[in-house]
Amino acid sequence: MEISLEKKFENKIAEDLKIEPQDWMPDEYRKTLVRQISQHAHSEVVGMLPEANWLTRAPSLKRKIALLAKVQDEGGHGLYLYSAAETLGVSRDSMIEDLHSGKAKYSSIFNYPSLTWADMGAIGWLVDGAAIMNQVALCRTSYGPYARAMVRICKEESFHQRQGYQIMLTLSNGSTEQKEMAQDALNRWWWPALMMFGPKDSDSPNSEQSTRWRIKRLSNDELRQKFVDATVPQALFLGLTVPDKDLYWDENSKSYRFGEINWDEFWTVVKGDGPCNKDRIQTRIKAHENGEWVREAALAYAAKQHDRSSKMVG
Ligand code: 3HC
Repeated sequence: MEISLEKKFENKIAEDLKIEPQDWMPDEYRKTLVRQISQHAHSEVVGMLPEANWLTRAPSLKRKIALLAKVQDEGGHGLYLYSAAETLGVSRDSMIEDLHSGKAKYSSIFNYPSLTWADMGAIGWLVDGAAIMNQVALCRTSYGPYARAMVRICKEESFHQRQGYQIMLTLSNGSTEQKEMAQDALNRWWWPALMMFGPKDSDSPNSEQSTRWRIKRLSNDELRQKFVDATVPQALFLGLTVPDKDLYWDENSKSYRFGEINWDEFWTVVKGDGPCNKDRIQTRIKAHENGEWVREAALAYAAKQHDRSSKMVG
């Protein structure tokens, strides 16, 4: 007896097989993947901005080269993810339009200002550290192109996290002013990094369905806990203080207990009223407009190549 397309899809998910672009999938599965993958791509591209601010101010050529490589990587991550989203039938232009119009989200973390060089350390260490936690789990997501994009991205993220931690190590072992700069950066980036994992599971409208479809393999709270347990010892090794008076090691659960996240701040930033939201979008729109000629030239060249090859075949 012929089984339904829905049943075939559900069997593949249950057997932990990848769903591929040509496979039948529920409209809602497609829709939530376009939502998540495109917003992930937006986060990568907007995430270039806080660090780009310090490319010309890096304290040495070596630091500048490492930061330049990281920022370029993030742009590449955005391209992989836009391409993964396009396999679901959404156009690049419509995704970019949704970002520029404010309709689409991107990670709230990138709406905070990068005020000192130590922020480059804190962003690499904490933001890319949190992204790795989330993205390693996404290597097992049920949608094939997304999972495969994650494998390459995670390899590059580990370099990003290491170069950030190395900056923090240098500053923490440096002069009093340098150590204070590192502590100030940890104070400002710690809580926004915890917010990267999203709202509490109990407040997450998408998690239940995304978990059932194995888009999400670990919940927001599980990933956040993994990040805290991995990162607090790193802060202690730096000789820095995590800015959470309620943080303590719980011997019973063998994990850290931490204070309540400021969810008002989270939703304020997510809804567009963070310190840098408007500036980030304006900068993205300007960069897109300034890049129009590059896209036109690339498309003209591709069309010419296509004509040439079809004449040769014809
Ligand atoms: N910033 C902005 N919006 C957020 C957010 C955050 N930190 N956390 C959650 N949200 C939004 C969600 O997008 C959702 O809104 P939507 O339905 O309009 O999209 C709403 O808040 C409710 O959250 P949910 O938990 O229900 O949503 P999800 O199930 O999608 O989970 C997520 C949120 C964990 C961020 C998930 O979307 C995800 O894993 N995304 C892929 C990873 C990602 O985007 N990471 C962002 C950082 S990328 C990065 O840091 C790059 C690095 O190289 C620097």
